Amino acid sequence: MLPQNDRQRVAKMAIDLIIKAEKLSRIYVMESAHVVGLTNINLDIVVGETVVLKGESGSGKSTLLALIAALDRPTDGELSVAGCNIKNATEDRLTRFRRESVGMVFQNFNLLPTLNVNENIMLPGLLARRDNLSVKKKADKLLQWLGLSGRANHFPAQLSGGEMQRTAIARALINDPAIVLADEPTGNLDSRNSRIVMDLFQEIIGNGKKTLIIATHSTIADHIATMRLYLKDGALQFL
Ligand SMILES: Nc1ncnc2c1ncn2[C@@H]1O[C@H](COP(=O)(O)OP(=O)(O)O)[C@@H](O)[C@H]1O
Ligand SMILES: [Mg+2]
Repeated sequence: MLPQNDRQRVAKMAIDLIIKAEKLSRIYVMESAHVVGLTNINLDIVVGETVVLKGESGSGKSTLLALIAALDRPTDGELSVAGCNIKNATEDRLTRFRRESVGMVFQNFNLLPTLNVNENIMLPGLLARRDNLSVKKKADKLLQWLGLSGRANHFPAQLSGGEMQRTAIARALINDPAIVLADEPTGNLDSRNSRIVMDLFQEIIGNGKKTLIIATHSTIADHIATMRLYLKDGALQFL
């Protein structure tokens, strides 16, 4: 019989599974070769999990996050995220999924240089066709929470790395997505700002409603992980 903890976990999985991958693969077909991005991944993630995804450079971390974010499609196998079938959904369904269900944070922040902090944060809300006032109110709340209120009218080039990443975190949260994905979010930050970003992630998942996946090859997120995944050559390793 399973220990109590495992039984509770299995019972919870039946109700709250948010990501399910079965024999998931992504092979990049190049002119001269096939490159393995991911191969034969089986994965169940429940709501509220904080997943730390590790692996050397080239092991498939970004490929997996891109599939979960529906920025890419599997070449084989199945992937279901927040009720959306990433392989078979129509483009319209995937667009809606990207806007409503996932928020992404990147190593290079990926802010739009011609928009100020407030506009960068509000943009996904406006693209999702939410009304201007409710998006503005949510942006104000996020700016305050992130200590960026004094920066609302500044442009990305005027910010420090830590401020840029906090802006990107606000942008990822503006539509209150069920899933937050962070790809090497502290890769361009010093240790102090890396800790600040991790504290923010810890707050984001504090109420257990959001699911967070952080890809990193550092140990910075280890203490907030509820689940650890290791990729090697596109395959999940069970240690
Ligand atoms: N667009 C692409 N075209 C071809 N190969 C790719 C592409 N993206 C990633 N790869 C390859 O897939 C493998 C996994 O890459 P990636 O997911 O970026 O790893 P990681 O994020 O862990 O560094 C690597 O061998 C990489 O070269
Ligand atoms: Mg990567």
